[in-house]
Amino acid sequence: MTKSLNTDYFFDEAAYNTHDGGYVPLAEPKTPQQALRIPPLLKPDKETATDTYYTVEAQAGETQLLPGKKTKTWGYNTSLLGQTLVFAQGKTMHIDLKNSLPELTTFHWHGLNVPGPYTDGGCHAPVYPGQTRHIDFKVDQPAATLWLHAHPCPSTAEQVWKGLAALALVTDDHEAQLPLPHTYGVDDVPLILQDRRFHEDNQWDYEADYDPDGVQGPTPLINGTVNPYFDVTTQRLRLRLLDGANRREWRLHFSHDLPFTQVASDGGLLPEPVAFTHLMLTCAERAEIIVDFGDVAPGETVTLYSDDVPLVRFRVHEFTPDTAVLPEHLVEMPNPDVTPDMPIRKVVMSGMDETVMMDGKKFGMQRIDAKQQVGNVELWDVTNTNDMDGGMVHPFHMHGTQFLVVSRNGHAPYPNEHGFKDTVGVNPGETVRLKVWFDHTGVYMYHCHIIEHEDGGMMAQIEVFDPQHPQNYKLMDMATLMKAVAEERGIAVKDLHLVGMSSYEKMGMEM
Ligand code: C2O
Ligand code: CU
Ligand code: CU
Repeated sequence: MTKSLNTDYFFDEAAYNTHDGGYVPLAEPKTPQQALRIPPLLKPDKETATDTYYTVEAQAGETQLLPGKKTKTWGYNTSLLGQTLVFAQGKTMHIDLKNSLPELTTFHWHGLNVPGPYTDGGCHAPVYPGQTRHIDFKVDQPAATLWLHAHPCPSTAEQVWKGLAALALVTDDHEAQLPLPHTYGVDDVPLILQDRRFHEDNQWDYEADYDPDGVQGPTPLINGTVNPYFDVTTQRLRLRLLDGANRREWRLHFSHDLPFTQVASDGGLLPEPVAFTHLMLTCAERAEIIVDFGDVAPGETVTLYSDDVPLVRFRVHEFTPDTAVLPEHLVEMPNPDVTPDMPIRKVVMSGMDETVMMDGKKFGMQRIDAKQQVGNVELWDVTNTNDMDGGMVHPFHMHGTQFLVVSRNGHAPYPNEHGFKDTVGVNPGETVRLKVWFDHTGVYMYHCHIIEHEDGGMMAQIEVFDPQHPQNYKLMDMATLMKAVAEERGIAVKDLHLVGMSSYEKMGMEM
């Protein structure tokens, strides 16, 4: 099967977030272990052979996370995180996006190849409190672990912190026939990795914890569970890992360095499985891994750690032996030729704290920063210029596309970067070359996925155009946004303070 075992995190050690002055170390929770929450599958309102109808409702609620008082949380069709959507390749989805929150939000499909900016659900597609927006799209990409999260500028980070993140799983026939675990919640299990700080009465307080380099908390929260265990009843377990944290990187490994095999990244299957003992995920990245408990005796527990803090305890029970062998090749990857005569695009992520920028500018909602013709295949060189105190890794994310990683500083990408990606961690002083093409026209954002960096302006947007069909897009503007938010809060615009705006304010800039 796999040729070699990777025992390295690959990223530059000097840039790990543990070296950051504001780093909040994880701490093992002292509360009793609880069964891992599994986000339920969202039941379609209606389903035919070709079409699926869903209602996704953003709502406020309360969740029992710790003994004692419940925590005020937000979620999609539930009080925290969300019910999991399934998008079958080839089918058309019809989704009602209902906002039952007290403030405006957007519904962004991270990793989904759909037209921007409205279906994609970035900041230009607000759904006001009490309102519903309807979207339709055809699922036109391979099986993958995608996610839904709120994306209203500049409150993306705060809304995700409150709980607005759910999974969206694309399925296809090819992936379905591979010898991979496929039973959701039993041997095919999502792990949404987040961290929070609990304040008085078990509440979260985004403003109190605010840090322009990304908000962190000491308590690991896995699928919205503090101190979870999972009962393993099969020899092989597929874990769909999502770094759903605002800021935190996860350096994952199991007890006794139990090896595992990565089979998919952000945009779907890897061309070949890659074996690991250690895996680092940066914000918004996904990895699907297969863990084989064949050599673990029933009754034992295998623990998943980040650095040296336990995240999930896998209690291994009796299981039927599983002799399935993964094929050497999982999927054919397309590798289209670069469109001739196109200059290499340069993107620069710079700064830390309030000074974060993309190409020397902060995000402007009404400004189009770049244009690319639909269908063109272009090279993008994405550079991270941070060098202060070892610098930091910026996870670079693009809407509207799954790209290929060509190289890192001219060298081969990491062994698990040969599949489709929509988010790639860029080390300080590094240039990552991407091969990028878009299937749909529209306006798409690209940004650092440390969510406070994104809100703080390390973000830009590209218009993907078709010269035969020029289009005009209605882009959100600051005046409309501020007026709407002030109205929700029943205050005057001049009294409005959005914590996500603080980077702009401190720099004397407007969004
Ligand atoms: Cu996870 Cu702009 O996205
Ligand atoms: Cu996205
Ligand atoms: Cu960043």
